[in-house]
Amino acid sequence: MRSLQCIALGFAVSALMTAGATRAGAEDDSLGVRLVNQMNALYGRHPGVRANHAKGAVFEGTFTPAQGADALSSAAFLKGAPTPLVIRFSNAGGVPDAPDTDPSTDRIRGMAIKFKLPDGSEQDMICISANGFPVANGDDFLALLQAVGASGPDVPKPTPVEKFLAGHPATVAFVTAPKPVAVSYGTQPYFGINAFKFTNAQGTSKFGRYRIEPDGGPAFVSDEEATHRSPNALADNLRAALDKGPVKFHLRVQVAAADDPTTDATKVWPDSRPTVELGEIAVTKALDTKKIENELLFMPTNLTGGIDASDDPLINTRSEAYAESFGRRTAK
Ligand code: HEM
Repeated sequence: MRSLQCIALGFAVSALMTAGATRAGAEDDSLGVRLVNQMNALYGRHPGVRANHAKGAVFEGTFTPAQGADALSSAAFLKGAPTPLVIRFSNAGGVPDAPDTDPSTDRIRGMAIKFKLPDGSEQDMICISANGFPVANGDDFLALLQAVGASGPDVPKPTPVEKFLAGHPATVAFVTAPKPVAVSYGTQPYFGINAFKFTNAQGTSKFGRYRIEPDGGPAFVSDEEATHRSPNALADNLRAALDKGPVKFHLRVQVAAADDPTTDATKVWPDSRPTVELGEIAVTKALDTKKIENELLFMPTNLTGGIDASDDPLINTRSEAYAESFGRRTAK
């Protein structure tokens, strides 16, 4: 089990903690803005990069729907011809050149997908390598980040982050869950975390959470190997694998039972809940990340017909924070 002092979502690296890291935004700032302020304070402000998931690699791909996927939702990409994708894999944390195993990433990876729909619109899907989230809402996330910022090595115990963890068992469960390092971004499973509502052409709705599973199963390296390989091995190994052909994933939705919580991302639904196969994601080509990643914005609320946000409060707070981060990283 990793020490609670050096973990918390990649936000707890004492070396990154700068004086004044607990500074919140002005009183009238929205929660999303205050969260981005706090992320910038923890990681330092790196012009032109994301406030979180700063290190990434962009690829092109296609999505091919499984037969019958449109029984769950009438979304345009779940029937007919394959849909072109832009995919950004990333490491959590706000330091753009941190090695894959740097504690600032807390070994959380991201897979953000943009479906380019036939009518010119887009559907975004944003997943991480953990199943579940450490807090249920943006206020708690801000309190966690502030506690981390106030907990340097010289702070008397119990530190603010230790106090936060003592009152939030779900956060402890999240940060202590094993997080093995994948061979590449292409051998890592990803989870949608927040619930969405899927509605089919007959008007039947079900709540579900995405799961993206590597074709052939997950593949990880030992901690020993992870610390000795290239600092960018997750992306480098995916690019190398593409020389042999597309790297594929299954896109599935875990469907909630009637009383499963849909508004609390710390509450993982049992594995016994059924999953619906939506189709195959094929990563086909590496793109020029430096050239295009800054113009890319993935939003949890950028949804197409047949898919709606649930009442999970994280969804809107995330969209506020992502828009703020995008504004800062693209400001001239
Ligand atoms: C209140 C909670 C959260 C906050 C404040 C937050 C904040 C952020 C911010 C500021 C960014 C950078 C956005 C940009 O500049 O485009 C980001 C990116 C990202 N977040 Fe979150 N996040 C939260 C929850 C989550 C959750 C629940 C997930 C998992 C589904 C997630 C997955 C990601 C991923 C994968 C990226 C990278 C997207 C890309 O490649 O452009 N985040 N987050």
